Amino acid sequence: MCVESNQAILSDVSSGKIPIFEPELETLVNQSIESKKLQFTDQIKDVLEFAEVIFICVGTPQGETGKADLSQIESVAIDIAENLNGYKLLVEKSTVPVGTHIRLKNTMSTYLKDNIGFDIACVPEFLREGNAIKDFFNPDRVILGVESENSRQLLTDIYRKFECPKIWTNPATAELIKYASNGFLAMKISYSNMLADICEATGADIDSLIEGIGQDSRIGKAFINPGVGYGGSCLPKDVSAFIDIFDQNNVNNGLLKEVDSINRLRPHRIITKLKSSIQNLANKRIAVWGLAFKPNTDDVRNAPSLEVVSKLIEEKATVNCHDPQATNQFKKAFNQNSNINFYDDMYESVRECDALIILTEWPDYLSTKLGELKDKMNNPLIVDGRGIFKPSEIQKSGFEYKAFGLKENNN
Ligand code: UGA
Repeated sequence: MCVESNQAILSDVSSGKIPIFEPELETLVNQSIESKKLQFTDQIKDVLEFAEVIFICVGTPQGETGKADLSQIESVAIDIAENLNGYKLLVEKSTVPVGTHIRLKNTMSTYLKDNIGFDIACVPEFLREGNAIKDFFNPDRVILGVESENSRQLLTDIYRKFECPKIWTNPATAELIKYASNGFLAMKISYSNMLADICEATGADIDSLIEGIGQDSRIGKAFINPGVGYGGSCLPKDVSAFIDIFDQNNVNNGLLKEVDSINRLRPHRIITKLKSSIQNLANKRIAVWGLAFKPNTDDVRNAPSLEVVSKLIEEKATVNCHDPQATNQFKKAFNQNSNINFYDDMYESVRECDALIILTEWPDYLSTKLGELKDKMNNPLIVDGRGIFKPSEIQKSGFEYKAFGLKENNN
């Protein structure tokens, strides 16, 4: 049983409609509603009547100073405490700073009316948007942060079918593991972006370099693709919150700050690359392919597209946008501007354009018909933020091609 306070979301999901684009999710939810395994309510009391274990999955967005905003966690804790009707295990699923389980415990104790027992555990989530169902059912590991035998028993039962490694620890460590994982992933991406920059400066080949380091099994090939940087609702906010956690504990966080600052500069570098061919963008028509922060999602939170499009508009260009899924979300997130056009057809979006910028590696773009693209464009210039084309092939097709890791005068 799921409790949701937002009536619009509740009404959608109760009728089997998923308000976001996430492969396989709608089918799974509908099957589960039909087989009566899944139900929804807006009443916390219903859930407390129904369940002994409650997973807290509310948002912990980035607050003004970078630290995680825990107000939704607090309000759920108060709601649960005021309605508690018997022992419950509360499980933190949301990404929360180390020590939040203690805060949760204190809030619960303050608002509890009777002396009813409860436990708090932390089982962080590691699924990726766009791959959420597969990741959920086939995790690399499950982290179980518990501090009582009862919690351990309940979670052993819930996770008994998962065959992956299970790491039992205390809640503080489990809370930290989530940030440490996302911080490490962000660090890999910023490191590869730094490598792309040195390749650009020296003429070394970024693709061979990535292959060369990735073949070392200690390094691995995953998450070292350079480009326009990491976006989304997780990596950017978690790196900021992790920086704050180090600050709060007076521990040096220079490495994390550099990871963050390398990432923040990536969208600007796309514009620099474009301007190295077109100095004055005023009245130029620029196509942007890929508004989502990554493929297979319609999420545009912290997507590089927001910054790139806004910079293009600032420079008085006209922007033609295309994305297979994220156009509506982008329209909601971006203040409407008369200099932006949206297209359903990727080839139509480049008509008469002076350049094409690629920001998301959607499969549709990987199989672009280059001849058709070139015929439609006014000027065959591609600035590729995800490095989806082979430079030699695309240049053979008559395009001027700029990508991260390619030496400027080679472009
Ligand atoms: C991330 C983590 O990967 C999940 O394990 C975690 O559960 C989730 O955050 C979360 O905290 O909830 P997600 O935000 O869905 O998942 O996206 P990722 O697949 O991690 O991609 C993040 C960004 O990094 C994207 O913009 C992507 O384009 C970029 N990226 C990824 C690169 O620039 N290079 C790479 O090599 C890989």
